[in-house]
Amino acid sequence: MTATFVALFLALLAINSDQFKIPPHEEVARMARFVVNHCDWASMATISTHDPVKGQPFSNLFSISDGPVGYGNGVPYMYLTRMEISVQDLEVNPQASMSVSLAQTHFCKHQGYDPQSPLCAHIILSGSVVEVNDTEAGLAKKALFSRHPEMTDWPSDHNWFFAKINITQVWVLDYFGGVKKVTPEDYFKATPY
Ligand SMILES: *[C@@H]1O[C@H](CO)[C@@H](O)[C@H](O)[C@H]1NC(C)=O
Ligand SMILES: *[C@@H]1O[C@H](CO)[C@@H](O)[C@H](O)[C@H]1NC(C)=O
Repeated sequence: MTATFVALFLALLAINSDQFKIPPHEEVARMARFVVNHCDWASMATISTHDPVKGQPFSNLFSISDGPVGYGNGVPYMYLTRMEISVQDLEVNPQASMSVSLAQTHFCKHQGYDPQSPLCAHIILSGSVVEVNDTEAGLAKKALFSRHPEMTDWPSDHNWFFAKINITQVWVLDYFGGVKKVTPEDYFKATPY
């Protein structure tokens, strides 16, 4: 009985670690796509338009999704309302910076990597936040609502809309030796799996 239980437990562990095999650290574009696809939220900085921090960077949390795990298109979609403080900043200046880290998965804790360690892979996306068109909104909705089911119940009088960050530069921290830059072209060409 106990032996069976231990065997089952080990089998589950094996499956679990198999599912979370990160790409080789030198494949930085792939790594960036992997991090975005595995994460459910990002910290996004805008240039504040609100007193008393007007003109200063303002970092805030947003739920993101680029599609189901294993099938992301690399575009981190967001569900936003103009009532939100950072979205008000974006209406004045759409430029933003988004941090996404495997620290929000079990990976770094299991490996014993501190969130600030480059081994706990994390990336920064620079660009501008744009509302998506009607065609892309269908995709954004599927991507977001499948991973954030609560969104379907968010108050309809808030006039939610689908947006994305139009990426101009990707910065990857996934190993020692400093940050590595990836162009949007290489990022979107990469296959995370
Ligand atoms: C909507 O946006 C997508 C992605 O940027 C683009 O490929 C597509 O051509 C756009 N569709 C229309 C009708 O503008
Ligand atoms: C995205 O950014 C690129 C580069 O800055 C720009 O040329 C393009 O017009 C932007 N696209 C949208 C939809 O804002």
